[in-house]
Amino acid sequence: MAVPFVEDWDLVQTLGEGAYGEVRLLVNRQTEEAVAVKVIDTSQAKECADNVKKEVCIHKMLIHPNIVRFFGHRKEGPTVYLFLEYCTGGELFDRIEPDVGMAERDAHRCFQQLIAAVEYLHSLGITHRDIKPENILLDDKDNLKLTDFGMATMFRFKGRERLLNRLCGTLPYVAPELLSQTEYRAQPVDIWACGIVLTAMLAGELPWDQPTESCQEYSDWLEKKTYLPPWKKIQPVPLGLLSKLMLASPDARITIPDIQKDRWFTQGSLCSRGNNVLKSDVELVPRPNSDDRVQFSSSQPDFAAGGWEAMLVFGQTEGQVSFSQPTKPEHMLLGSQLLGTPGASQSPFQRLVRRMTRFFTNVNADTSLSALKDICDGLALGFKLTCPKQVTLSTLDKRNNKLIFKVHLLEMDQRVLLDFRLSKGDGLEFKRLFVKMKQKLGDIVSTQKILLPFT
Ligand code: ADE
Repeated sequence: MAVPFVEDWDLVQTLGEGAYGEVRLLVNRQTEEAVAVKVIDTSQAKECADNVKKEVCIHKMLIHPNIVRFFGHRKEGPTVYLFLEYCTGGELFDRIEPDVGMAERDAHRCFQQLIAAVEYLHSLGITHRDIKPENILLDDKDNLKLTDFGMATMFRFKGRERLLNRLCGTLPYVAPELLSQTEYRAQPVDIWACGIVLTAMLAGELPWDQPTESCQEYSDWLEKKTYLPPWKKIQPVPLGLLSKLMLASPDARITIPDIQKDRWFTQGSLCSRGNNVLKSDVELVPRPNSDDRVQFSSSQPDFAAGGWEAMLVFGQTEGQVSFSQPTKPEHMLLGSQLLGTPGASQSPFQRLVRRMTRFFTNVNADTSLSALKDICDGLALGFKLTCPKQVTLSTLDKRNNKLIFKVHLLEMDQRVLLDFRLSKGDGLEFKRLFVKMKQKLGDIVSTQKILLPFT
């Protein structure tokens, strides 16, 4: 597969999938520079093409160390390609161990950088509206990079703030007022989502499906039952910040200037003794999951107030594309040898293949497939052969939400690679199940080092 107009760029691998399409890694044959390209198929709906124009228009104006750089875009028929900074560290989800989280000091640093990104966006009058770990990437130095501006919009123009009314975001991350009020302020909603991300980082689980009183976990939070999980796993000082980030009233909710004065924000794990076991690199990355997005855009124009459209005159030229992230794909290692390797000690080449929801087996494809079928039967997972070398697995997670993922079987060099990708559902649940399945397949999982033969 090749991207038609970029002749010297090789498609190395798919980095992620979502409702919009795919993000692929391109590496320049001559210079070995790497760039991520988001491929969006706009043929389904006119609305989709307009959304992409808005995404381009917003993303191209953002220049901040904690925001994925936008290099340029190309349109080829119904397909739009967005060229983005390639983040070698993968998704933040990769660093969160299900039910455990990550080391408090790492979460602290990530949270500070996330707030820096959101402060910058808000200073420009832009709200992201879909902050979640799938939209947070890490670079080679583990710096946080916020990405995916497909839902972003302007909430302030020439000093005048407007209220928003569109229901968008991802249910576990949305603020309660978005579900209970027809109009809501933009900034407190992004701040709430940062609180949910911080909870995921510190506890390895999302606190609720949605912030409505019909949801028991949310009612328990309103009643301050912090002796229950996930809260009981979190130290009192960061928990103090979480209780301000997730205040039900958007007007009472903490603001960015006050977050920047908070004790945990300024001092971090210095003020939490005996914190979590360090678990900085879980080596698993679920695919982005956008299917559970609530996105009602039909009757409610996003740019209701005059002047908003004027702000978004969609430009077509971003100037020259320039990339500066050398990679050597032929040196990329793949396989279980990277499991448990601390991120910081990995070479850039190893970092290229951080997505670790895959492993090689030491048996042939048919035997791998039947072993997979057996463990799926044991785990009561729906098993469907969707292509000769692809299986779709489906189940319900502990919250009764659909969890669907695909396993591709790739025969490479007399070995079989089992590549697991999330199609729909919660990324943390996907990782929990992947770990369980890999454990059960222990006998056929290859532990040998593999040099990945990309051609
Ligand atoms: N996944 C989605 N976007 C990405 C990017 N820019 N870099 C690395 N992985 C990604």
